[in-house]
Amino acid sequence: MSGKDGRGLVPRSVRITGWGHYAPERVLTNADLEKLVDTSDDWIRSRTGIRERRVAAPHETTATLAAIAGKRAIAVAGLDPQEIDLILVGTLTPDYWMPSTAALVKEAIGNTRAAAFDVMAACSGFVYAYATADAYIRSGMYRHVLVIGAELLTRFLDFSDRNTCILFGDGAGAVVVSASDEEGGGLAGMEMTTDPDGAYMIWLPSGGSKSPPSAETVRRGEHYVRMEGKETYRYATKTLATSALTAISRAGWDPAEVDLFIPHQANIRIIESVAKGLDMSMDKMFVNVDRYGNTSAASVGIALAEAVDFGRVKVGDKIVFVAFGAGFTSGAAAVEWTADPANGRRAASVAPAASVRAPVDWDSVDPMPARLTAVLNDRGGPPVPLDDVVPGEPEHAHRKVPA
Ligand code: ACO
Repeated sequence: MSGKDGRGLVPRSVRITGWGHYAPERVLTNADLEKLVDTSDDWIRSRTGIRERRVAAPHETTATLAAIAGKRAIAVAGLDPQEIDLILVGTLTPDYWMPSTAALVKEAIGNTRAAAFDVMAACSGFVYAYATADAYIRSGMYRHVLVIGAELLTRFLDFSDRNTCILFGDGAGAVVVSASDEEGGGLAGMEMTTDPDGAYMIWLPSGGSKSPPSAETVRRGEHYVRMEGKETYRYATKTLATSALTAISRAGWDPAEVDLFIPHQANIRIIESVAKGLDMSMDKMFVNVDRYGNTSAASVGIALAEAVDFGRVKVGDKIVFVAFGAGFTSGAAAVEWTADPANGRRAASVAPAASVRAPVDWDSVDPMPARLTAVLNDRGGPPVPLDDVVPGEPEHAHRKVPA
């Protein structure tokens, strides 16, 4: 199958060989949110199924969350980070507009040879990135692709807007997708859609070329996520089942054959409605929205890693990833599982820490939303520290580009 450098020959199959996730330690409960906005634990649980979500610490960034999940997936695949040929990060909350978060992840995982870029498809980002990885490997161009969905949404939320701030959380999920000499398994059917009619149903107005950040855009709160909840809900319930059915039919499967659905974890009611649309029992839906909230592009990756580690997936199972998100986008992948779930134990060898170097002549201001810091500190325990935001090597900013 392989040419001299592993490229140029078409594999017999393309398979998921590693998986991993990382969720920041700090938990934000519905009770915490009751102190910030006019809401209640009962309302949030009954309307969304969310009990708590995670909040990244000040020294963490999307790239550091992604790097930990990525290193875990690489360990599970039994690879050295240097064996990764391409790094794809699905995110709508990158560290910077440039460089890509994938470029920062490359350095953080200790890889010097991979190509790296971000995939921007909002909550469908992980599924889109997985499809991209599969296509690159299927073409013979690369052997091992690291696919990560990572988000640090709590830094883009208005913690006085009860419409949005109760829904989202931080985290990262990853898989390694690899060329295989064996026949069968892996991605069997795929569907991706984009419907720009929904472009302004969930969006972040300022920061791009249409509305560069300024004191005025900040005054207007245009650097926060805005959402038409009802329209988004309607789109999600309509599209998720359709996308999943299309991917299943392209795989040549009957929906009843599917062992487990790994849906985007946005809202338990959306997941229930998808189960109903597919005529499936909720036993076939993996759910962890109660513990993480909506982690956007990270959601399917985290759910997949947990599903495998919790013993919900075995070799030969037919599983379906299905997501929707801003754009509107949707993506579904019908996948035959091939990896030994016991390999998941290897992730324990990866410490939950990663760092990305920052320039010596620049320091970020406190990245935490002030209202969020106040409520977290108010709970007791140690105050949230604002260290050097990204501990790094000072010479980085002035390092010359190697010839
Ligand atoms: N706490 C208490 N009350 C609230 C809250 C809250 N957090 N939010 C809204 N309400 C109130 C409303 O004001 C309204 O009050 P009213 O009847 O007096 O007018 C009432 O609760 C019902 O509001 P609805 O908006 O009708 O509530 P709904 O049942 O539609 O649930 C929700 C709202 C949870 C946002 C739901 O519409 C939803 O999940 N939508 C999809 C959102 C989503 O998945 N977004 C992610 C997109 S993916 C991406 O790319 C990031």
